[in-house]
Amino acid sequence: MVSGGGTNLQALIDAQQAGKIENGQISLVISSNPKAYALERAAKVAIPSEVLRRRDFSDAEEYGKALTALLENADIGLIVLAGFMTVLPDSFCRHFENRIINVHPSLIPSFCGEASTVCACMKPRWQRVKVTGATVHFVSEVVDGGAIIAQKAVEVEDGDTPETLQKRVMQNAEWILLPQAVSDFCAGRLRVDGAIVHKN
Ligand code: GAR
Repeated sequence: MVSGGGTNLQALIDAQQAGKIENGQISLVISSNPKAYALERAAKVAIPSEVLRRRDFSDAEEYGKALTALLENADIGLIVLAGFMTVLPDSFCRHFENRIINVHPSLIPSFCGEASTVCACMKPRWQRVKVTGATVHFVSEVVDGGAIIAQKAVEVEDGDTPETLQKRVMQNAEWILLPQAVSDFCAGRLRVDGAIVHKN
């Protein structure tokens, strides 16, 4: 599920084409934004896509129901939030418990709940940190609060702007962690025990 540029989707497509997603395949892309470039990335490799805009539904529950119907019709086993910028209703998160993973551009629990701010760690209201990174985690009803699957640290350099740091976080962390986590899930290597994820 996507909302924007789709570079994480591209990382998944590239990994799939390189045979690095064991026992899984990307079978549907859902975008909350009809203009998302991610949709073009899906079209280029003939992955079916759908657009569901939150604003076309009266409330989050109704939006969640429509998403659930799409996902169940397509017999989806794992939902990957790859830059999906709409908060999902609790009922959706419970329904797909331990079957939704998200990539977040910080080392959770630092800089959580920053839905659209990729490098919040550079905002003036924060002391400028020296290390940030990315987290891949299961999605629970608590925003950015589900069990952590993988994290990777990335250094903040002196001359960084939000743009240069965002690019480094994506290149050095997100695009590596996300396909690996998807492959581990699909190959049955992830075991969730309460709040802890074990990799077999
Ligand atoms: C990524 O940096 C992802 O971590 C972030 O949005 C970007 C999407 O980029 N997600 C969040 O902030 C979710 N809270 P992409 O569309 O190029 O993959």
